[in-house]
Amino acid sequence: MAAEQPSSEDVEDELLAHLDANAEIPDSRSFASSLGVPHRDVEDVIKRLCAFRIVGSTDMTKEALVLTDEAKGYVARGSPEVQFVAAMPPKGAASKAALQEILGDVFDVGLKAAAKKQWIGFDKENEDLVTRRVKDTKDELQEQLKRLENGEVFDDKVMEGLKRRKLITKEKSIWYSLKKGPEFVVKRKTLATDVTRDHLKSGDWKDLEFKDYNYGAQGQPIAIGYSQPLLEVLEAIQNIFVEMGFSEMPTNMFVESSFWNFDALFQPQQHPARDSHDTFFLKAPATTPQLPDDYLEKVKQVHQSGGYGSKGYGYDWKRDEAEKNLLRTHTTAVSTRMLYKVVQNSFAPKRYYSIDRVFRNEAVDRTHLAEFHQIEGLICDYGLTLGDLIGVLEDFFSRLGMSKLRFKPAYNPYTEPSMEIFGYHEGLKKWMEIGNSGMFRPEVLLPMGLPEGVNVIAWGLSLERPTMILNGINNIRKLFGPKVNFKVIKNRPMCRLGCSKVDRSSAGGDMSCLS
Ligand code: PHE
Repeated sequence: MAAEQPSSEDVEDELLAHLDANAEIPDSRSFASSLGVPHRDVEDVIKRLCAFRIVGSTDMTKEALVLTDEAKGYVARGSPEVQFVAAMPPKGAASKAALQEILGDVFDVGLKAAAKKQWIGFDKENEDLVTRRVKDTKDELQEQLKRLENGEVFDDKVMEGLKRRKLITKEKSIWYSLKKGPEFVVKRKTLATDVTRDHLKSGDWKDLEFKDYNYGAQGQPIAIGYSQPLLEVLEAIQNIFVEMGFSEMPTNMFVESSFWNFDALFQPQQHPARDSHDTFFLKAPATTPQLPDDYLEKVKQVHQSGGYGSKGYGYDWKRDEAEKNLLRTHTTAVSTRMLYKVVQNSFAPKRYYSIDRVFRNEAVDRTHLAEFHQIEGLICDYGLTLGDLIGVLEDFFSRLGMSKLRFKPAYNPYTEPSMEIFGYHEGLKKWMEIGNSGMFRPEVLLPMGLPEGVNVIAWGLSLERPTMILNGINNIRKLFGPKVNFKVIKNRPMCRLGCSKVDRSSAGGDMSCLS
């Protein structure tokens, strides 16, 4: 039976006794091997004793070249070339298949190395046959490896060759030199942590020495639900909309027809966004044949020849193209449907918002995903102007902590004028693009049947972008999708010093303090 491994307490006792007698242990590795325990076990004991200042230690490190597992195998069983030749009959030929059977993993390396040394040859007629060309072989490699194992070093050329064959590798080793610490004792007293029933019964609690309380220790993690950062920001934005008197649009249709996603929005059928490189089209069901016919006819007219003061695009509009099903590319598809519905129920001014998922056939990278979330707000009323849009945007974004806004002219097929929205991030001290906006074109509103004089102002932004800024996340894949690490979500602090995650508690909130 193998001798029993000394326990951690045994190692500790031995180590302290040794230090008591010798005042020093110059190399923890040789101490470990004298006890017959792995160095790791001694290391644990050293760390513990150092923490109590019973022992003082100095770290020693060295980088050394050591044999790899493959090389150790050759030391034990011979180099692959020698093993190869040894597996062959003394005279004549052997088949590769038979040798492979005997040699297993060593076959390939052995074959190459033995051929290089010209210890074996190949039969020209029969490719599967290997012939032996030498009687005896001398195992130089094994010899070399054995000498290396005993600490010998060869010249650089030999060492480089061995490295290339992956027979030696650099290894960093750490060990310790030890001496007595200021609190040195030969036997460490184990301190009591609890008063037990037995202590009370025997009365020995009076003499016990107790371990100090560690007030800095972390508590047990609590097994409760955690909120996804996207959901938190979603909720904050939802609250802003509600405070501003907006109601939510139904966003439950991920699959849309091209009609509502593009055509109704005056987006011409040749527009590059309607290409399969940008949009995910559905195979089954590939089309939506039921579309409101009257309205569809008006949309066709406005694309082909205009009307309502517009020249249109002047092309041959195709119903087939409008029927194609897709994964909606923006939540503006939801807004289009909603506006159409508002008209059907005799028009009244409205404020609507939506926050939900959209899909784009995009190359996924640090800041782009093929599916993400859009936030959209719209107001329809008589006589709205660009000034109203700017005012609403200032109100909306200042509630999110961005009170300095700038606008840049932009282009959307469905809005005119259109504006990109930039916000000044107080934390990052820079202007950032935060959204897109505009006033819906008459070519969109009038075919729908909205009364003359009604304008629609609208804006959209992604949910991911503000969430990344608020949480200091620089890779969108850490936030959403299969690569999200639940640990990161669970370990998010409940609050941060200075401001909460989405701080809307103070007037106006402050999105900018989170960088
Ligand atoms: N649909 C636009 C986008 O996907 C956003 C937008 C919404 C622009 C409403 C103007 C009006 O970027």
